[in-house]
Amino acid sequence: MNTGFSKFKILSVLLLIASTTFFHYFTVLTGHHYYIFYRELYFFPLVLAGFWFGLRGALLTSIAITLAYLPITIIYWDHFSTDDLTRVVEIVLFNTIAIIIGILKDRERERYHQLVMAESLAAMGRAVSAAAHDMKTPLIAIGGFTNLVISKLRKIDQGTGEAPEIITDVQEKLAIVIKETERLENMVKEMLDFARPLPLQKSKENLRQIIEESAAIVEASASTKQIRIVNQTGEDLPPASIDPDRFKQVLVNLLMNAIQASPPGEQVTITGFAKAANLAIDVTDCGCGIPLDKRAEIFDPFFTTKKEGTGLGLPIAKKIIDAHGGKLEIVDNQHTGLSFRITIPL
Ligand SMILES: Nc1ncnc2c1ncn2[C@@H]1O[C@H](COP(=O)(O)OP(=O)(O)OP(=O)(O)O)[C@@H](O)[C@H]1O
Ligand SMILES: [Mg+2]
Repeated sequence: MNTGFSKFKILSVLLLIASTTFFHYFTVLTGHHYYIFYRELYFFPLVLAGFWFGLRGALLTSIAITLAYLPITIIYWDHFSTDDLTRVVEIVLFNTIAIIIGILKDRERERYHQLVMAESLAAMGRAVSAAAHDMKTPLIAIGGFTNLVISKLRKIDQGTGEAPEIITDVQEKLAIVIKETERLENMVKEMLDFARPLPLQKSKENLRQIIEESAAIVEASASTKQIRIVNQTGEDLPPASIDPDRFKQVLVNLLMNAIQASPPGEQVTITGFAKAANLAIDVTDCGCGIPLDKRAEIFDPFFTTKKEGTGLGLPIAKKIIDAHGGKLEIVDNQHTGLSFRITIPL
């Protein structure tokens, strides 16, 4: 919010309270009956503060008005006369109206914020989808032609029996082109996964088995950092109705993040368990963790702190879990790292 404009709003509210208090006291002390009119003017700053600043602002204003109004109520107290009761009711009204306006305003702001987020996510999804779709064809062509050139070079190589240095050099460079193209193809696949609707092919699956298979996929990456992946899931977990491939995609994303965040030699734990009418899976690492104020941000599309990351791993994982009617969240962890919890209904 513009700070200059905020200051103007705060000053306006304070000025309205001060001027109303002045005229209210002046008319009461001089015995004028206009004081009935002036005390009603307190509703102006109250309503304005509620609209401008929400619940907190409205409450602070109603407290200020109560403090300004209280001395007159006490000084002119006359054994529960009608005037006394009117003043007490008025004070209760100030505070009740402040709470109602404040809550309504805060709720409206929250809804507006959600709407803007949903709109911008949908727009981003459409843009990403169009860009990724256009990138797919040239990438396939680059990968295909590079492979063709490599195989032709191999033939020249076999024909001469001995590869000239320049051919070996070209082969090495082309291998880099292939590797980078694969990386780009992967990114495009992730972008399309994020942007497109997600049809699920559900079946009854043994979660322990799915966890084992996901751990096997990331095993090579884990062992290069001497990280142990420990599956602590019990044997007695009931079967879950899930899309097995999509679910593995989520677990692989979470496990890869855990491995990348962990120092060498550490352990990543994955635990599936039944929790009331739900099934839960915790993926816990002893890595660098994430500061509290950054926790909401890591689910934003394209948020990454990694040199080669796309920042789509967690948004896609969240999208898949949402499609299963479940939720993906960060839970408190006794270790130093981070713990992600997937919860899906049984
Ligand atoms: N287990 C974790 N410990 C610490 N930070 C994490 C962890 N998991 C995710 N993060 C943070 O959240 C960010 C976003 O994660 P996300 O998986 O969405 O993208 P990425 O891993 O950066 O890239 P990508 O998964 O697309 O290759 C990461 O860059 C990292 O900063
Ligand atoms: Mg990731």
